Amino acid sequence: MAELARDARRRIQLRGRRFPKPGTTRVLTVANQKGGVGKTTTAVNLAAALAKGGLNVLVIDNDPQGNASTALGIEHRAGTPSVYEVLVDDAPMSAAVQQCPDFPRLWCLPATIDLSGAEIELVSLVSRETRLRRALDEYVVTRERDGLERLDYVFVDCPPSLGLLTVNAFVVAREVLIPIQCEYYALEGLSQLLKTIELMRAHLNPELRVSTILLTMYDARTNLAQQVAAEVREHFPEVTLRTTVPRSVRVSEAPGYGQTVMSYDSGSSGALAYLEAARELAERGAATVAHAATDGEHTR
Ligand SMILES: Nc1ncnc2c1ncn2[C@@H]1O[C@H](COP(=O)(O)OP(=O)(O)OP(=O)(O)O)[C@@H](O)[C@H]1O
Ligand SMILES: [Mg+2]
Repeated sequence: MAELARDARRRIQLRGRRFPKPGTTRVLTVANQKGGVGKTTTAVNLAAALAKGGLNVLVIDNDPQGNASTALGIEHRAGTPSVYEVLVDDAPMSAAVQQCPDFPRLWCLPATIDLSGAEIELVSLVSRETRLRRALDEYVVTRERDGLERLDYVFVDCPPSLGLLTVNAFVVAREVLIPIQCEYYALEGLSQLLKTIELMRAHLNPELRVSTILLTMYDARTNLAQQVAAEVREHFPEVTLRTTVPRSVRVSEAPGYGQTVMSYDSGSSGALAYLEAARELAERGAATVAHAATDGEHTR
């Protein structure tokens, strides 16, 4: 009952809502080396929600699995121009970016299976850590020259590892968005992720910080989910979004139809939660995380 009432309230509050434009393009890397915690689902649905709210959004699918491309209904068969050609062959992003069929303000740089070789191929290339950043900088200039509107948000979807693809994603972004699944072991490995981010700050990208944590697959009926959520909020009070994303069948069905849940079932509780999370993200701007929180001491 409480959930139904909350959804009804959200539906009214969020209907036709326009989100505020950020002062500059916000680039967020969605990372967590744990697999299956909702990185891709979060990247594509926040992106779709913001695009629905009138903002211009690019999703960079930086994972050889290509799940973000699938969920956005983007062609990504082997051989399709993709992030692989951008990273390894120096191709311009504009040659590979596709417009999302469901949202005119949403674009995607797809990933194909070719990307699975990139971790190794990148090792021997010059400036291997900064290739994605250079490509995005160039793409921003190209868009301006072509008279396209400025991008408001860029989301980079990462694979569940901390290799060179993820390093490139940490160099291109200023913000890291960490989705945390409200399950046992959720915080395990988080200290390793935070340490990696600290290393990135020290050596490759001093501006990088964890700006946002989103609790996903939250089941309010279980004590465990509530405990995990409370623990995360205690350690990261400033960056954890108030909105949690519930476990919802509609969310997991949507990619099978090449859609985000925002277009597949925009009135469902999962879609409303992502819309609310997108509103929060847009309205609170880039919050900073206290350095103490990134030293990993608090996490298991
Ligand atoms: N809120 C949700 N409710 C129900 N199912 C969900 C929800 N969020 C994600 N899922 C499902 O959980 C699985 C993992 O999600 P997702 O692919 O987004 O995780 P990931 O962190 O990107 O995984 P990987 O590490 O493999 O890239 C998927 O099958 C997805 O559909
Ligand atoms: Mg993924």
